Amino acid sequence: MLMHIPDVLSKDQVAGMRLALDGADWTDGRETVGPQGAKVKRNLQLPDASPLRRELGDLVLAALRRHPLFHAAVLPLRTISPRFNRYEGGGEYGFHIDGAVMHTGTGDTHVRSDISCTVFLSEPDDYDGGELIVSDTYGEHEVKLPAGDAIVYPSSSLHRVAPVTRGARVASFFWIQSMVRDDGERRLLLEMDAAIRTLSSSGADQAAILQLTGVYHNLLRRWAET
Ligand code: NI
Repeated sequence: MLMHIPDVLSKDQVAGMRLALDGADWTDGRETVGPQGAKVKRNLQLPDASPLRRELGDLVLAALRRHPLFHAAVLPLRTISPRFNRYEGGGEYGFHIDGAVMHTGTGDTHVRSDISCTVFLSEPDDYDGGELIVSDTYGEHEVKLPAGDAIVYPSSSLHRVAPVTRGARVASFFWIQSMVRDDGERRLLLEMDAAIRTLSSSGADQAAILQLTGVYHNLLRRWAET
C-alpha cells in the first residue's frame, strides 16, 4: 500500500532544514549499500556519523509521530534514524529492493524493514526528474510530492529514483518495523480506523461505533507483535 502523508513538515521547518543541508558535507551514497545496490546508486548522502543527520532526523521522526495518518497507516514499532540524500547532475538510483534487516546504529538493535518512508525536502518545480517509482502488482507508481510531504510504501517492493536532470532533489528517508508485519492486515486496520472516525464525526449510533472500535483493537491484538 502506497500512502501519501501530507503536511508532515511545515514550509518553515523545510526551509530551516534545507539551509543546514545545503551547507553540509555530503558523501557518496554507495557507502551504505551492498555490491548490488552500488551498481545502480548515484547520489549523495549525509554521513551516518554526521551530528546534523541525527539532529534533523529527530525532527523528522517527531513530526511524523504527531501525524495521525502516519500512525494509523504505519503502526510503528521501531524505526531507523532517518538519513538524508541529494540527487543532482543526472544522479539516480536504479531499481532495487531495500535490505530486509538493518542495524539501528545503537547497541545491537535491529529493525526489520516493513515500510519505507521518504520525506520530500525539495519543491517539485525546483528539479526535473527525480520521481520515486514504486513497482507493485498493480504496475508502476510515480511519486513526486511537495516539500514537507511524505510517502510510505512496502519495503518489499522494487523501486527506483529517476535521474535528476535539473536542480537538486533533497529528501529524508528511513525504514520502519511495523507492529503489524503484513501489508494487507495493516490496510484493513487503516480502513477500519477511517470508517470509525467518519462514523464518530457523523453522529452515528454509539453502541455500533463502540462495537466496531472493539473489533479494531481485537484485530490489532491478534496481529500485533511488540
Ligand atoms: Ni530504496
